[in-house]
Amino acid sequence: MTIGTPENPVRVAIVGAGPSGFYAAEHILKDEATHAQVDLFDRLPTPFGLVRGGVAPDHPKIKSVIRMYEKTAARQGFRFFGNVKVGHDIEVEDLERLYHAIVFTVGCETDRRLGIPGEDLPGSHAATAFVGWYNAHPDYAGEQFDLSCKRAVVIGNGNVAMDVARMLALTGAELRRTDTADHAIEVLDRSEIREIVVLGRRGPAQAAFTNPEIKELGEMEDADVVVDPADVELDPASRAFIESDEADKTSRVNVEILSKFAAREPTGKRKRIVLRFLASPVENVGDGRVEKVVIGRNELVDEGGTLRAKDTGEREELECGLVLRSVGYTGIPIEGVPFDRKRGLILNEGGRVLDSHDAGHRVGHYTAGWIKRGPSGVIGTNKKDALETIRRLLADIESGTLLDPASPEPSAVEELLAERGVRFVSFEDWEAIDRAEVGRGEPHGRPRVKFVGVEEMLEALGEKVSS
Ligand SMILES: Cc1cc2nc3c(=O)[nH]c(=O)nc-3n(C[C@H](O)[C@H](O)[C@H](O)COP(=O)(O)OP(=O)(O)OC[C@H]3O[C@@H](n4cnc5c(N)ncnc54)[C@H](O)[C@@H]3O)c2cc1C
Ligand SMILES: NC(=O)c1ccc[n+]([C@@H]2O[C@H](COP(=O)([O-])OP(=O)(O)OC[C@H]3O[C@@H](n4cnc5c(N)ncnc54)[C@H](OP(=O)(O)O)[C@@H]3O)[C@@H](O)[C@H]2O)c1
Repeated sequence: MTIGTPENPVRVAIVGAGPSGFYAAEHILKDEATHAQVDLFDRLPTPFGLVRGGVAPDHPKIKSVIRMYEKTAARQGFRFFGNVKVGHDIEVEDLERLYHAIVFTVGCETDRRLGIPGEDLPGSHAATAFVGWYNAHPDYAGEQFDLSCKRAVVIGNGNVAMDVARMLALTGAELRRTDTADHAIEVLDRSEIREIVVLGRRGPAQAAFTNPEIKELGEMEDADVVVDPADVELDPASRAFIESDEADKTSRVNVEILSKFAAREPTGKRKRIVLRFLASPVENVGDGRVEKVVIGRNELVDEGGTLRAKDTGEREELECGLVLRSVGYTGIPIEGVPFDRKRGLILNEGGRVLDSHDAGHRVGHYTAGWIKRGPSGVIGTNKKDALETIRRLLADIESGTLLDPASPEPSAVEELLAERGVRFVSFEDWEAIDRAEVGRGEPHGRPRVKFVGVEEMLEALGEKVSS
């Protein structure tokens, strides 16, 4: 029987309701030649992935992309199954019995490790946890951050490092205008941290942050930005790169902005954000908790055309009570899905899941977004990325290379979840949660006051939850 017709629509399960999940759903549902039904699963009751749980609360405009996802959710054939974890509440094998195709868009939800002694000392945290905590992600509600020290060290030079440095520097009044989790506002407002040192292992010309994000650090209400002029003096190879046609505009402008910061005098604001370069943490030291970071001084060496950081052996100790490691995210394997452990992503070629490095496509299995290509790229990057995957899926519909599910009827998944006692959250339920959060924010002039626990969210739907 032909699949993708009005009589026999193609049934697709998408696992993960972040940007890539929504873009994948949109690309399938808007394809005029294909009749499709999409069920979008998320382990949380709330959709939108890192747009809700990652994007910094003081950047509300970025979250307006949600309006596009709401349009996708309003399309005929779309259903949301929140509060359903694939690999726990429902297995990949179950999905194979219910759908013609499965698209994994689960993102990269954990932190990359530094691999240094003392990495796990109390007071040293992954940025993943700090970000989840201030954004009210249920996984991180119970995290404790002791901000009673004077100095924090942020490791990494990406945009997440910029976010966490800024969040540590915002004033209570600024935070109270945002949707930062209430528990985080309380702790951040009482913070005694006066200096936030950001360590980049390479130089200013190799920083991964982008221009608006670095510029913003120089415009903080109650924090001065401090850069040592010696730190922005480029080594000959970086200078040659920045002056060459090869240099991208972002790196060139980053260097310009940092040079302007280096020429500034602190204006006596309450806090300081100190940006340092060619500096790697080699050890966290402390008696029962972090008391200092041992920093190794790096030099840049050319390795196959890329300037890499090499330890010079020079050491320095920096006292601090909080370390936030922001050196990138990595994927978490799902039972039954081929995983490239080295790269921390699902084994795939152009979005088609591969059985192993040298085997072919696992029929009916696809992937998109961070878990397909790794944890880099802004929200919009996932649109094109999802399109590449969905083009392949559509071609496979055309050639009839899909799964042959035993129970493709739409009610089958609901019956299975009911049988297993899984209370899924529909898109209408999410809209009710959303209205409740927005309503809680209104009296305080805030965009919303987020619920933190899953129980709280279900209670907002008028349900008694037994713990
Ligand atoms: C801290 C931070 C801030 C950022 N800020 C910006 C910004 O300001 N602007 C910008 O353009 N980009 C920003 N980005 C990048 C942007 O968020 C990503 O490009 C984008 O979210 C990746 O989309 P994704 O759908 O692949 O993954 P995600 O957004 O991570 O979505 C994955 C979804 O899968 C769900 N999931 C995971 N496992 C399962 C499972 N087993 N079963 C069911 N569901 C599951 C998760 O709950 C999540 O909802 C930021 C990234 C981070 C980390
Ligand atoms: N406002 C925004 O648009 C926004 C906000 C947040 C995130 N994002 C996007 O989300 C993506 C992820 O951001 P990210 O900051 O997590 O990752 P990222 O951009 O990949 O940055 C990771 C940083 O960690 C450094 N690093 C890696 N391993 C290290 C080690 N062992 N020791 C010291 N430093 C190390 C990297 O340095 P090297 O370069 O030397 O490897 C790099 O500076 C990015 O594409 C980012 O642009 C966007």
